[in-house]
Amino acid sequence: MKPLIVANWKMNPKSLVEAKRLFDSVAKGIKNVKNIEVVICPPFPYLTVLNSEFSTFKLGGQDCFWGEKGAFTGEVSPKMLKDLRCQYVILGHSERRRHLNETDEMVNKKLNAALKEKLKPILCVANFLQLKKDLKGIPANDFNKIIVAYEPLFAIGTGKPCSPEKAKKIRTSIQKMNKNLTVLYGGSVNYENTQDYIEKAGFQGLLIGGASLNPQEFLKIVKSID
Ligand code: PGA
Repeated sequence: MKPLIVANWKMNPKSLVEAKRLFDSVAKGIKNVKNIEVVICPPFPYLTVLNSEFSTFKLGGQDCFWGEKGAFTGEVSPKMLKDLRCQYVILGHSERRRHLNETDEMVNKKLNAALKEKLKPILCVANFLQLKKDLKGIPANDFNKIIVAYEPLFAIGTGKPCSPEKAKKIRTSIQKMNKNLTVLYGGSVNYENTQDYIEKAGFQGLLIGGASLNPQEFLKIVKSID
């Protein structure tokens, strides 16, 4: 499998014009990248515009609901994401767990719904217990469709990344549980520490927040792995 680099734009940038500019700068710089799968996860409203303008990237949602349709104000279904050409969806991000009280039970339902729709879930967890709860009842032969992003809370958006040694331990224990799980690292990734996680700690890719909003930095990261 090619290394997977996921850009989580979170609630950025502030306008569609800026989103297009960011998208275009990355698209231009990434044209000759062959050996990496790059996924951009913009805010929902931008998906409808950006989805007609890409060929090099894959697109992903930053969340989805577990129901297919109906009276769920404010929610977005996996099918809607699929319809907008998303192939991936981030689930269980710690910011959703913290600010919106998203529970493991909810994340588990979302995971099931995403798999049913053949969206590739990028399941964010801060620890092993969370991972076990989120995967409860998921058949083991679906594990090769799930991407786990290990994101220690202290490292997210803080500029204080996890040590590669500790990150490697967690990655190893996740893959001991099931070797078919793809595991990414996320939390204060930048160009300088990229190889700590890919080369030293053996992750199959990265989930990048802050640095994905800076096209030069993001492209440097991508090219250093390609
Ligand atoms: P960060 O965010 O790279 O800004 O730390 C990562 C994430 O929250 O997915």
